Amino acid sequence: MDVIEAIHTRRSIRVFKPDPVPKKVLQELLDVSRWAPSGGNVQPWHFDVLAGKLLAKVTARLVEKAKTWDGHDYMNPKPDLPRTGPYSKLLIPRQQSLKALTDAIRYPPGTKNLEAKQLEHREHMLRFFDAPSAIIVCADDRGPASIVSIGVVTQTICLAALAYGLGTCIMGVPVLWPEIFRELLDMPKDRAIVTSIAIGYPDLRAPINTFPRPREPLDNLVEWHGL
Ligand SMILES: Cc1cc2nc3c(=O)[nH]c(=O)nc-3n(C[C@H](O)[C@H](O)[C@H](O)COP(=O)(O)O)c2cc1C
Repeated sequence: MDVIEAIHTRRSIRVFKPDPVPKKVLQELLDVSRWAPSGGNVQPWHFDVLAGKLLAKVTARLVEKAKTWDGHDYMNPKPDLPRTGPYSKLLIPRQQSLKALTDAIRYPPGTKNLEAKQLEHREHMLRFFDAPSAIIVCADDRGPASIVSIGVVTQTICLAALAYGLGTCIMGVPVLWPEIFRELLDMPKDRAIVTSIAIGYPDLRAPINTFPRPREPLDNLVEWHGL
């Protein structure tokens, strides 16, 4: 698969096969991904890779947070980095369009017990969509350049994962509660928990993994200067 094809093929995977990902594969994946660029080459990233009983222990605690949803948002999470949003007028319709597309799959017309189904979805998300592994992406520096570098390495992991037949979903929601990771994993206090990646073999029969994703037309995104 060439790079352009990989960029188009990567998409957020939200249903995984139960097959575990061998440690050797995850090691190779992170070994190649550490070649991502970073500001000043400081490589501010640190990865905590979870699977098996430890992942189950973490997700059992995260799932308790599904009930803290007040209808609009989770109540009083204390993430390590300030939360994004509320989004600007320009961006809100893009967020709404994703929600409409995924809600249509999760809750088709006539869905009964909608609230229970929505709770089920939040729990599924807080279990990293039942992926057999999760990568917690941390930063040893909280400056903007380092956080950009964390984004760069995160996408590098997601693209490289394709070479191993793996699917990924970058996930901000689980890291809203960094105290859970700190308590259950031996993590230094000053290391910021920035984001996470659910990772495993994708179930490509699941409609949530195959629906057409929208993107803004290029003309809405670019101004050309001098060419
Ligand atoms: C920083 C970041 C955080 C995200 N957090 C979540 C999340 O918590 N839950 C989720 O289902 N998807 C999450 N996503 C996935 C986005 O919804 C997804 O990338 C976007 O809808 C575009 O779709 P695609 O990844 O399939 O191209 C996140 C993506 C990014 C980059």
